[in-house]
Amino acid sequence: MSLTKTDKAIILTIWNKIATQADSVGTEALERLFASFPQTKTYFPHFDLHPGSAQLKAHGAKVVSAIGDAVKHIDNVGSALSKLSELHAYILRVDPVNFKFLNHCMLVTLAVHFPNDLTAETHAAWDKFLALVTAVLTEKYR
Ligand code: HEM
Repeated sequence: MSLTKTDKAIILTIWNKIATQADSVGTEALERLFASFPQTKTYFPHFDLHPGSAQLKAHGAKVVSAIGDAVKHIDNVGSALSKLSELHAYILRVDPVNFKFLNHCMLVTLAVHFPNDLTAETHAAWDKFLALVTAVLTEKYR
């Protein structure tokens, strides 16, 4: 799956908006994940998963920051996220299906925060980008 030049430009534009509200976007995406796909909570037995908890906020910020790293290295996401890929595959052993759930929740969060920006084109480009991030984070399973 490759991103076109147009995709990359669109991703950068929406990322610049996300970056202004990064922490709340990340936290909300996680809150949606745990509410809509409660099985994902099993990976976080050591977290306080109540909406708005300090741990959720801190983790939401980390997830969005990693996505920011991927945006910054959009032509080389594999090496930018290589450590994170090892963490999720070898240590956390997150079942890859869960990435689809998180991507969906992230997209819904973007739609809520940036309703005017999430055009069909932006939706499609962002979807492709998150699929690329997922491919990198789950590649060590193969
Ligand atoms: C940890 C990013 C998907 C479960 C992390 C960390 C980051 C991150 C940056 C912190 C690493 C560190 O502290 O060194 C991402 C990104 C994802 C993603 C960018 C996809 C876009 C998932 C999914 C799950 C998951 C789908 C499971 C449902 C975890 C767990 C931790 C973690 C359990 C450790 C939390 C802790 O103990 O602090 N992830 N993650 N991640 N992630 Fe992910």
